[in-house]
This record gives sequence, C-alpha cells and structure tokens, in this order.
Amino acid sequence: MTAADFNDRMLSLGLARVSEAAALACADLIGRGDEKAADQAAVNAMREQLNMLSIKGVVVIGEGERDEAPMLYIGEEVGTGDGPGVDIALDPLEGTTLTAKAMPNALTVIAMAPRGTLLHAPDVYMDKLAIGPGYPTDVVSLAMSPRERVEALAKAKGCKPSDITVCILERPRHQEMIADVRSTGAAIHLITDGDVAGVMHCAEPEQTGIDMYMGSGGAPEGVLAASALKCMGGQIWGRLLFRNDDEKARAAKAGITDLDRVYSRDEMVTADVIIAATGVTDGSVVSGIKRRPGYVETETVLMRSKTGSLRRMIYRNPTR
Ligand code: FBP
Repeated sequence: MTAADFNDRMLSLGLARVSEAAALACADLIGRGDEKAADQAAVNAMREQLNMLSIKGVVVIGEGERDEAPMLYIGEEVGTGDGPGVDIALDPLEGTTLTAKAMPNALTVIAMAPRGTLLHAPDVYMDKLAIGPGYPTDVVSLAMSPRERVEALAKAKGCKPSDITVCILERPRHQEMIADVRSTGAAIHLITDGDVAGVMHCAEPEQTGIDMYMGSGGAPEGVLAASALKCMGGQIWGRLLFRNDDEKARAAKAGITDLDRVYSRDEMVTADVIIAATGVTDGSVVSGIKRRPGYVETETVLMRSKTGSLRRMIYRNPTR
C-alpha cells in the first residue's frame, strides 16, 4: 500500500457521513447533564457508519486501550476490509462536558490517512503550541517561555504583544502560563474544554480573533488538531507528557522510544490526510445541531490536505 492508493477524494465524502452520524446521535443528549450517554451514542453511531466504508482501517487514535474501551479502541480494525489500508484518528464526541452542559464548541471529528502515517499517540497529555498560516517554521517554539512566544509572534505579525490573542484551556495547571502571557498585555481566550477546536481557531485568525494556542491537553486531540491544521494551514508542535510509569508503558506499546521528542505537525501526520468535523453545539469552527420543525440540521466541515480544499456541508435529517 502506498499513499497513491489512498483515494482521499471519494473517501472524504464518506468520512463526512461518519462525523454527521455521530453528531446526530447525540442531538437529544445536548444539555442533559449526561456526558457518558452522549459519548456512548456518538461512539455507537460513528462505529456503525465507519464500518460501511470501503477501507481496511485501523483505529490509531480512538476511545482508549482495548481493555478499557469496548468500541473504537486503539488497534480496532474498521471498514469493510476491501479498500485501501488506512489509519483512523477519531474523537466521536470532542467535548463531552460541553455537550452535557450545552456549552459551545463540542464537535465530532474523524481523520483518515494512509496506513502508518498518523502518530500513534498514547492517551497521555501533550504540551501543545499552535499558530496560524503564513509564518516561518521557527517563529515560536515549545522551548520558549509563554511570554517569549507572544513577543516573537507579535514581532512576526508586525503588531504589539497586546494585539495578540492566545487560546488556553482553563485549568489550574495553566495558572503560571496564563500569568506569563498576561504580563505581555496579550488577551487570553479561555476555553473550558475542547482543544481540537481551540487549535483550529488559529488557522483562521481573522474570523476567530485567535492567533496562538498553548497549553497541555490530550495527546490524541493533538494528532486530530495536527490533521486539521495540515488541511487548513498553520503549525502545531507537541511533546508528550508522562505522569507515571504506566503512561510511559503506553508510549512504549505505541512504539515511541524518545519520550522527550517534540513533534511538528508533519511529524504527527506524515502524509496527506482528510478530516471531517460536525458541530454538536455552536462554535466558531462549525455551527451546532439545529432542531427545526420536521428535521434536524448539522453542519460539517470536510477538508483534504492534498488540495487544501474545505467544504461546508449542511445536512437535513428528517425527523419523521
Ligand atoms: P472529552 O471530550 O474527552 O471530555 O475531552 C475534552 C478535553 O477538553 C479535550 O479537548 C482536551 O484535550 C482534554 O479534555 C483536556 O484534558 P483535561 O480535562 O484532563 O485537562
């Protein structure tokens, strides 16, 4: 199997149906306070649709290890088995709490690339740094302090540090980072969850007002965010963070030997990728599910890195 056999053009349309189905499945669970039920509904629907695609797929970023996730676990084979060999990275519901609380930016997301080309990131944290398109590759780095990153980006953008907006997950572990960014006068867009959308915001700073994303979050979400930026433009760097030996063992199982390595976007996603994301609750990347008399409407963004194309698809699903 080579990258050339990966028919991403037609497969991408099937991928959109997969993320749409996951979003529709949790429509009734928005704002119901039940994260687990919403996630389960999305997982079931995503798996069912995924298994209809003509692919020989392997889940490399999924719901967890085989012993802790009965469905869409890492290593699960998906698809009909008669198509190209592909890696699948998915998050059936990115923002389970956002969904349960009907807060913005919950989405369903799935990426696909030729077999062996997506980083098999274990389910640990990742230190992430992302910026939008149009900058040299070394303008900011994980080695810089948060303050240095803001100053360097402002210089490259030709503006003052106070004109920069940084998106950060609101967590106690980010207190120092937040204080350091604030010391530059930059604005901070705090999010309570959902850093895939957080990173994607950087790709369209004119629309979202966000220039940079930084902070630690899930490593699987880092690979999904890298897939999105590979299509939309923009850069992301990630370094896995390990809290104990069990987490290091997960990395070893995934074939990762250099535990301190910084991965660039193209090291997390080494070939062309396609990605679909459907809004569950309203967000700046995609609109959320809308209930109308007689139908439910979803918005999906579908992207291919090979062409840089981006489709926005509105789907009306009758509620007969
Ligand atoms: P879930 O949808 O699985 O709840 O993940 C939401 C999320 O906010 C991710 O976007 C982020 O990467 C991660 O959780 C952050 O983890 P933590 O809540 O432990 O800080």
